[in-house]
Amino acid sequence: MRQILKVQISDNSEYLIDISDVGFEKLNQEIYLLTKDKKRLVVMSKKVYKLYSGDLNFSDDEIYLFPDGEKEKNYKNYLKVINRAFELGLTRNDVIIAVGGGVVGDIAGFAASTYMRGIDFIQVPTTLLSAVDSSVGGKTAIDLPAGKNIIGTFYQPKKVIININFFKTLDEKQYMSGLGEVLKYAFIEESCKYSVPLFLFEFLTLSCEKIMQREPLTLIRLIEYCLNLKIAVVSQDEKECGLRKILNLGHTLGHALETITKYKKYTHGEAVVYGIYFIFNWAYKHEYINYAYYRLSIDLLEKYGFKILDKKYSSDLIIDTMKKDKKATSDRITFIVPCDKKQVKEVKLTPLDVEFALNAIS
Ligand code: GLY
Repeated sequence: MRQILKVQISDNSEYLIDISDVGFEKLNQEIYLLTKDKKRLVVMSKKVYKLYSGDLNFSDDEIYLFPDGEKEKNYKNYLKVINRAFELGLTRNDVIIAVGGGVVGDIAGFAASTYMRGIDFIQVPTTLLSAVDSSVGGKTAIDLPAGKNIIGTFYQPKKVIININFFKTLDEKQYMSGLGEVLKYAFIEESCKYSVPLFLFEFLTLSCEKIMQREPLTLIRLIEYCLNLKIAVVSQDEKECGLRKILNLGHTLGHALETITKYKKYTHGEAVVYGIYFIFNWAYKHEYINYAYYRLSIDLLEKYGFKILDKKYSSDLIIDTMKKDKKATSDRITFIVPCDKKQVKEVKLTPLDVEFALNAIS
């Protein structure tokens, strides 16, 4: 099965997303047709290389093996990627291909956007998390020790190729991390202003078993739903001046938890789900949503096996970290808050409000 989605960001930026379960032969052919006249630098996750190098038609010379893990998304590794592109003689007509999860996609995309002022870039996400989120929409970045995604660009890929065969070998933790971002879309669907209702919340409720079993056709449909919503958002607001902020539901606390635990304790999706629990709790207590919707939402998270954060971190440390986030202003911390069924809005809280809310859930 194959689904093709089109992303139209502005008049001059348009690309396709191909979601399928076709065999690797066909994937290789597709990449060949897109890149046959070009020199290529393939930034590939080490894990993916170990598992799939025999299935993928890249020569070892053009592959730059990239270590997995958020801590690798740094300035030194960025320079190594750029140097490798230069050594291989890539020019402005050539291409960088990212084959891996979000870390690989982010750093390869940032390298492509800055190498010789920008060269073509193809995303081949190999995790559910990168398929439903970071591979689409053109955010590229590297981290600073003090914060995630501090240096980056908006730079759209030429194509995104999602082959769900890669997901068969994702470990449970990584798969659940992807589902954390997937669940986020259920709570923001109506705010995305997609042309027709997709009923993602209901789909996630009814198809939980098949999704957990990674049933291929259900997965393709699930990714298609999530990406339709993401495309609707980024095509209205590429640079996150307004609407795109809704994609950050759960991320204010989520990013802070990832940062203070040095990206070692929680996966991204898990941290986002803790953030969603937190903000639903806050929204219910402050009467942004009623009990029925609050309960329904928590039930959905629990159905997928997610639980409320059971560890206490110093609220001062969390707030200090939140203040350093790109989305914070000098005296307020920005949250995306549920305000009705499947709808969210931006709310700016003072550090004192946040401290009170953090202490109330512990
Ligand atoms: N990951 C959120 C966004 O792409 O805006």
